[in-house]
Amino acid sequence: MSDRNVRVICRIRPMNEKELKSGGRCCVSVAPPQTVSVVAANERASADDRTFIFDRAFSENSTQQELFEVAAKPVVDSVLEGFNGTVFAYGQTSSGKTHTMEGVADDTELRGIIPRMVQHVFDVVGAADKHIQYTLKVSIFEIYMEKVRDLLTAATSGIPDIRISEEGKGKGIVLKGLSEHAVATGEEVWALMVRGRENRSVAVTNMNAHSSRSHMLFCLTVHKRDIREFKSSVGKLYLVDLAGSERVQKSGAEGTTLDEAKKINLSLLTLGNVINALTDASSRHVPYRDSKLTRVLQDSLGGNAKTTLIITASPSTYNEAETLSTLRFGQRARAIKNDARVNQEYTVEELKALLAKAEKTIARQAREIEELERLVKRLGGTKRLSQVRDAVAMATADSDTSEDGATKATRHAAVAAGGGKGTGMRWYQRLWLCPPFAPLSTKRDELRVVPVTSDASSYTAE
Ligand SMILES: Nc1ncnc2c1ncn2[C@@H]1O[C@H](COP(=O)(O)OP(=O)(O)OP(=O)(O)O)[C@@H](O)[C@H]1O
Ligand SMILES: [Mg+2]
Repeated sequence: MSDRNVRVICRIRPMNEKELKSGGRCCVSVAPPQTVSVVAANERASADDRTFIFDRAFSENSTQQELFEVAAKPVVDSVLEGFNGTVFAYGQTSSGKTHTMEGVADDTELRGIIPRMVQHVFDVVGAADKHIQYTLKVSIFEIYMEKVRDLLTAATSGIPDIRISEEGKGKGIVLKGLSEHAVATGEEVWALMVRGRENRSVAVTNMNAHSSRSHMLFCLTVHKRDIREFKSSVGKLYLVDLAGSERVQKSGAEGTTLDEAKKINLSLLTLGNVINALTDASSRHVPYRDSKLTRVLQDSLGGNAKTTLIITASPSTYNEAETLSTLRFGQRARAIKNDARVNQEYTVEELKALLAKAEKTIARQAREIEELERLVKRLGGTKRLSQVRDAVAMATADSDTSEDGATKATRHAAVAAGGGKGTGMRWYQRLWLCPPFAPLSTKRDELRVVPVTSDASSYTAE
């Protein structure tokens, strides 16, 4: 599968108490590494409609670490190299999205993708060479009832709305007014996560005691500077825990929770429409603007980002229709093509430093040319300087490919003794042994400028 495609990973969770009580049986089978099938009880539909291939398929026995390694780590590594990356979890309510993305923070086994990502990022940053510098910033926000809300602003000031805008074609989506927090340790990120979680909208429903009523987006911006090469890049990582789709009858939502459910379902419907438009060759319009969620994820779906979609689903017949719908959604999303590229950039200081470096190189080259010309004059020949340069290049290539240290030493001795005559060397090879061409690795004391010999006697400056 092309690296450009959105990667889709499927995770089936274990049956929960409600499903077991309702008498549901398991109707989903996972055939690792890629296949998931929904087995129908007395179904005339063909098995083809119910068998799905993903980039990876995980059964109920999968661990949080496995999910992180396959679904998130490659994306996180790309972000550290300057790509944009997104990992998002999609599935019906109670299917395991929050469990996969966050998990149980203080349990090393059950920690989800976000805490594992934090650990991994700081491991990489800590092990980086001295000339590589990283600056990390975190933002956390939610899309609740079609409003984008910063989850890290002080509670006393209320939670302000954030405006979404586009910085000119190809420059990506910008969230105006969203706070960014510089972080230097995993603990600092974790403190922000806790603050964000406290501000997030959740509710108790029949389907999930901690149902997410908003889409939560964790954003890590990584500025990487290579101070030796004067290169820098900016990668943005979105880790997204979507609110789950739900059947209102099943979830028992009413009042505000019902209004929330309607908005959640509407934005997920738009997400489906965007995916359909992106994968339908005849479609000319992609309705990103129909919901805040798809607008924010515009770069992640069909744009400049490496994206992994994790679809989570229940194995029970109690949720069979929802599971089938999730698997079809994932199958379709797998055909989306993105165009990820490194976000390279130079600051004014870096451009100045690059210019200074280039000027130094030019000055050194000018000095070398002068030296060459002096040498050519001293050799008193008539060949043009360009020919001398070609000769030097040929001699260097010869030495790189065909001469070992011992042979070179013999030649040096021969040159020192008699100018290289009778050593079988060509004129340009003897020239190469003269300063300033003699490689630094040779013992320059043993060398001296060779007397002009018959075949090297005709150089001249240009
Ligand atoms: N793979 C899994 N292994 C063990 N337990 C799981 C797994 N997936 C989910 N659970 C458990 O199922 C319950 C519901 O999961 P979770 O809250 O992650 O669902 P959700 O998809 O985020 O739902 P919602 O859309 O309502 O927020 C939780 O108690 C969670 O611990
Ligand atoms: Mg959730």
